[in-house]
Amino acid sequence: MAALKTQGETLWHTSNVFTNEPALRLARKLINATFADRVFFANSGGEANEAAFKLARHYAITRYSPYKTKIIAFHNAFHGRTLFTVSVGGSQSIRTGLGRNRRISSMCRSTISTR
Ligand SMILES: Cc1ncc(COP(=O)(O)O)c(C=O)c1O
Repeated sequence: MAALKTQGETLWHTSNVFTNEPALRLARKLINATFADRVFFANSGGEANEAAFKLARHYAITRYSPYKTKIIAFHNAFHGRTLFTVSVGGSQSIRTGLGRNRRISSMCRSTISTR
């Protein structure tokens, strides 16, 4: 509670478009403790996975080929609720009713199952 009260009296929430001192300190610690030289903070798992998918596609397209866009996902995988993350998820139920999407149809959905 004390931490929440202290934070509430300073900065409660801001878009990640803006930076702030605690985020910069955490980013520095992560950089020092890992191989990374930059840090991306997200507000949800879906947003983090969305960024990871975009990064993977950007890397493959810019380094190898504009046709390297396939993302392989496991059957019944769950990566979040954004259009991109549901499109690479394995669950038909959360894709139903979203219509055809070039981004969805250009991806390879693996049918690998652990069952
Ligand atoms: C593996 C995995 N990826 C992504 C998500 C989505 O996270 P969020 O609900 O924070 O967007 C979840 C949530 O349960 C998850 O388990």
